[in-house]
Amino acid sequence: MNCLLSWPEPVVRVQSLSESGISAIPARYIKPPSDRPSWNNTAAATKNFEATRINIPIINLQNLFSDDQSLCEETLGLISHACREWGFFQVVNHGVSHELMRRAREVWREFFLLPIEAKQEYANSPSTYEGYGSRLGVEKGAILDWSDYFFLHYMPQSLRKESKWPALPPSCRKLIREYGDEVVKLCGRLMKVLSINLGLGEEYLQNAFGGDNIGACLRVNFYPKCPQPDLTLGLSPHSDPGGLTLLLPDENVSGLQVRKFNEWVTVDPAPNAFIVNMGDQIQVVSNAIYKSVDHRVIVNSAKDRVSLALFYNPKSDLPIEPAKELVTEDRPALYPPMTFDEYRLYIRTKGPCGKAQVESLKSPR
Ligand code: OGA
Ligand code: NI
Repeated sequence: MNCLLSWPEPVVRVQSLSESGISAIPARYIKPPSDRPSWNNTAAATKNFEATRINIPIINLQNLFSDDQSLCEETLGLISHACREWGFFQVVNHGVSHELMRRAREVWREFFLLPIEAKQEYANSPSTYEGYGSRLGVEKGAILDWSDYFFLHYMPQSLRKESKWPALPPSCRKLIREYGDEVVKLCGRLMKVLSINLGLGEEYLQNAFGGDNIGACLRVNFYPKCPQPDLTLGLSPHSDPGGLTLLLPDENVSGLQVRKFNEWVTVDPAPNAFIVNMGDQIQVVSNAIYKSVDHRVIVNSAKDRVSLALFYNPKSDLPIEPAKELVTEDRPALYPPMTFDEYRLYIRTKGPCGKAQVESLKSPR
């Protein structure tokens, strides 16, 4: 795959465009009208959502450990509903230290605010995506998103190369380890809850993903201020290709939007919450009982935005297929077995393209 060894055209850091003080964004970032943030955002639809103050469900995870059995069951039910109906929810009282969350976000914000030259030594290539990047996909002439990012492998240990993580700020690597360990633990707990809710053994999903050999990657997104936020997107619509995603959003600026009833709902982050969403591999293993859901990010002209997305993924060379227990005569297997390595090549080549990929995999019938 030679095409994945280098970028098809010179890389432009969105941060440098933003800082250059331009008042009009380059054509490369201008989306066709139907993809722009305000499109389809008719006054009526906006009003409707505002009137009902629609937001993704917020779940108090502590209730799962309550002595009150009915509260525990009710919480499992809320999570089940969120997984089926939204593919997205927020968790509070999740056990990860709020101070650690704050420090992790802060250290990454400081990293992105370093001068561009300090970050260039981490410049990534499309062969692994590891490092400092400014685009997804290698299609020449593609319309680009208004964001820079840093991508790194956290698990398995064999792929963890701390020398590729930022050496500055000096506490960055240590914080990545502390944060990574805690969030990976939380993902493990959520995998159990999802397994139970699917009527599978508690360890089913974790085992299907490779037990202790699961993968975990961190992508830290930086969305610089944008002079024309109505013409572009920080991140185009996509579903996450992996298993579960735990997102730590910016505490000051919203931007994440989730597709619901064919409208885009802006997520209103709860204080100290993580945003959880199902990736395509959970859709495959659950035989589409749970669905990965399209989401995108809008930008604004007033403030930069930072978010940390931890992707909890199957071991990359393991065939992933619908759980036998969820395949019946009435509901045959919707997807053929495929490894995550094969799967992810597609998004890495084409860039974010909504849910086209997981849908295209459906077994012919
Ligand atoms: C992602 C993602 C959302 C955000 O990184 O896959 O969807 O709010 N991020 O940055
Ligand atoms: Ni995403």
